[in-house]
Amino acid sequence: QADNATDLLRAARIVPVLTIDDAAQAVPLARALVAGGVRMLEVTLRTPAGARAAEAIMAEVPGAIVGLGTVLTPGDLDLALRLGVAFAFSPGATPELLDAAARARLPFVPGIATASELMAAMARGFSTVKLFPAAQLGGIGAVKALGAPFPEARFCPTGGIGEKEAPDYLALPNVVAVGGSWLVPGAELKAGDWAAIEARARRSTDALG
Ligand code: 3PG
Repeated sequence: QADNATDLLRAARIVPVLTIDDAAQAVPLARALVAGGVRMLEVTLRTPAGARAAEAIMAEVPGAIVGLGTVLTPGDLDLALRLGVAFAFSPGATPELLDAAARARLPFVPGIATASELMAAMARGFSTVKLFPAAQLGGIGAVKALGAPFPEARFCPTGGIGEKEAPDYLALPNVVAVGGSWLVPGAELKAGDWAAIEARARRSTDALG
């Protein structure tokens, strides 16, 4: 990666995947996560409010490192560049997206689910990838198996990971971070229970020592 995606992930270790319906919730949510020690935030483009939510967090939450997730097309990548976010994630990758990302000056983490997809990403210089959906693909076993032929690959497993599993993934030498939505349960977000979200974030970071 002609960027610092790997360093960002290594420093963060846990990356919450945030799908925000109401942009007004973005700032208090991000404040709670940052207060709990979780600073690298993936705001997905899965909702119409996503881009506005990312902008609001960047403007108002010191300490947050904000990126866009569910970046599926070169157009989405352009949006990330226009917003000035710190990084972008995709759940998979197309040749067009990889080519655009290789040209863009933005830390980008493509998603992969197979050895061939990993090879396509690495061929364009992306050796740090999001393994998605990690648990459904075989979890820890899948990370180890993919790591054998590709010792230089680094993974951010995401999908089906919870508070209990995160430390086990992070104990693997080729796992730089784990991602997931578990840090922000839908009911707590709906209720605006920022204290509960902050407490879980702190518990999750404390569990890593
Ligand atoms: C993502 O987009 O990265 C996933 O939806 C996160 O998966 P999870 O909800 O199972 O954590």
